[in-house]
Amino acid sequence: MLILGIETSCDDTAVALVRDGRDVLASRVHSQTAVHEKFGGVVPEIAAREHLANISNLFRSTLDEAGIGEDAIDAIAVTQGPGLSGALLVGVSFAKGTALRLGVPLIPVHHVRAHAHGAFLGLSKPLLFPNLTLIVSGGHTSISRADSYTSFVDLAQTRDDACGECLDKVAIMYGLPYPGGPEIEKVANGGDPQSYAMPKFSRKGDLSFSYSGLKTHMLYLGRKLGSPVPDLSNVMASFQAAAFGQLVAKLAAALAGAPEVRSIVVAGGVAANKELRRQLLAEFDVPVLFPALRYCTDNAAMVAAYGFHIFTESPDQQRFQDHNWDIHVN
Ligand code: KG4
Ligand code: ZN
Repeated sequence: MLILGIETSCDDTAVALVRDGRDVLASRVHSQTAVHEKFGGVVPEIAAREHLANISNLFRSTLDEAGIGEDAIDAIAVTQGPGLSGALLVGVSFAKGTALRLGVPLIPVHHVRAHAHGAFLGLSKPLLFPNLTLIVSGGHTSISRADSYTSFVDLAQTRDDACGECLDKVAIMYGLPYPGGPEIEKVANGGDPQSYAMPKFSRKGDLSFSYSGLKTHMLYLGRKLGSPVPDLSNVMASFQAAAFGQLVAKLAAALAGAPEVRSIVVAGGVAANKELRRQLLAEFDVPVLFPALRYCTDNAAMVAAYGFHIFTESPDQQRFQDHNWDIHVN
């Protein structure tokens, strides 16, 4: 089954063609980073306009890359939310129009859940369930337990900032470009993660994450060190270690409470980080799966893959003929 995926929840316009939730024929992303960079973050109105300007061409060029005509599309999966309202509206409107025109089913997809499916693209063996999924992106930091490709129980999320959001905000404080995660990764490389003391996170009680304390600590540390920061590599290595230490510890606590878990998936933009991958692989005995680097950050292949499972596992496929639904901002 060939699914067209469409993703416009934030600042990347993305279109992909994926067969049977696994084989990517083409996956194209038009990044808006250069447009938003000078503002130090995503400007929602500009993001929506950029999506509108680019989505039709991206759809055509994705078909060209796959070497197929639009008649080959069996269904369309689109990000329904969460995300920026204007941005979501562009993708959803384009998907609704195209589904009507081609007479194919339309599958609304949850963006955060879709991230996990980035890890299943191209996978030769089926995933082992139950599974623990850590999503760590610019907007979300959460752990859930999956019993199948489409059934999840949420176990934890962040009380305040997402991990990627914290990386992005701290990068701005230290004069590094947006988005901050990959820049901090570069600067931290070779630095000593023990050189600066960082606040301890709570290990008691529930599994929730918190990043606002670490962010504030970095603000005051930056003021103390002055500008330009003399020891930036060591500062960033220590900060990154603290940010990732919390992810590893909470995931370990979740696993300790669920000994039946047979695999772990870590996905979302921050999962592209090599140091985080190294720490996670060193920590756990159960297999840990990551998306290929290009499927960590926002893309439409993950949306198409998740859409495939939603559609094929649904007892009522007729419901995907209904286009009368709205975006979900949260
Ligand atoms: O999943 P994503 O593309 O968008 C959201 O759904 O939020 O994630 C974007 C986040 C940003 O915070 C960015 O700084 C972070 O992923 N990120 C990284 C790396 N690449 C992207 N963080 C750490 N290391 C990286 N290599
Ligand atoms: Zn995302």
